[in-house]
Amino acid sequence: MDTEMSVAERTPIANWDAYANSFSSVMPEQMLRLNRTVASYMDGNVVDFGCGGGKIIPFILTRDSVNTYTGIDSSAQMIERARWVANHYTQSRAQLIHSRIEDVDSIHSDSALSINSYYVWEDSFLVLSHIRRCLSPGTRFVIATINPDINMPALLDDAEKELIAHPHWAEFKEHNLKISVSENANFVSLDTLIGELREVGFCVQEANSELYGGGLNLVVCSVPNL
Ligand SMILES: C[S@@+](CC[C@H](N)C(=O)[O-])C[C@H]1O[C@@H](n2cnc3c(N)ncnc32)[C@H](O)[C@@H]1O
Repeated sequence: MDTEMSVAERTPIANWDAYANSFSSVMPEQMLRLNRTVASYMDGNVVDFGCGGGKIIPFILTRDSVNTYTGIDSSAQMIERARWVANHYTQSRAQLIHSRIEDVDSIHSDSALSINSYYVWEDSFLVLSHIRRCLSPGTRFVIATINPDINMPALLDDAEKELIAHPHWAEFKEHNLKISVSENANFVSLDTLIGELREVGFCVQEANSELYGGGLNLVVCSVPNL
């Protein structure tokens, strides 16, 4: 357990505002597969915790079964880009909230997601508990986050074949390599993630580490009905 002092001394694993340009515009095939997979579980009123630049928005807002999308992120630059993406969809039924997840109130939801935000959280138990409390009973929640088996250099080498000429590729690659070796990135095993989700009160339905060459945990769970 972190003491107050060690949390305060922690170096953030990335400056998400500075990363917003490259992160929002580069979409390697592995990320595309992840976004498509997670979106396929989303229906009704969707909430995205740590939405970043809204890369998943096109896959969510084009689903007939989706009513609304709410994205939450603590980076102003990321939220600005997510808003830009959402504005491409007329009658987009999207709202973007610039806030820490821990500071948002209960949201009417049918499904929810969080992609690669967990490993950034200083206190994952606290943030997961808050998410659990925010969501409506019966909500399906899909969480995806990098695990310790990630081979980031290999994934980036593969992605470079398709993205080498992209104007933000070099920056994207550098950021991801830095994140993958950061001592402050909380990459956890699938068992640890499942354990935490159960501890805060989610019912776990499916779990695998198939994406990102085995380096990404994906868990589908739900908030119990009253
Ligand atoms: C690696 S990015 C992932 C963004 C997006 N989910 C995606 O997959 O494209 C991580 C995001 O989590 C956000 N984040 C981290 N901790 C947060 C918190 N406590 N509250 C809100 N956003 C947070 C960061 O600002 C960043 O945009």
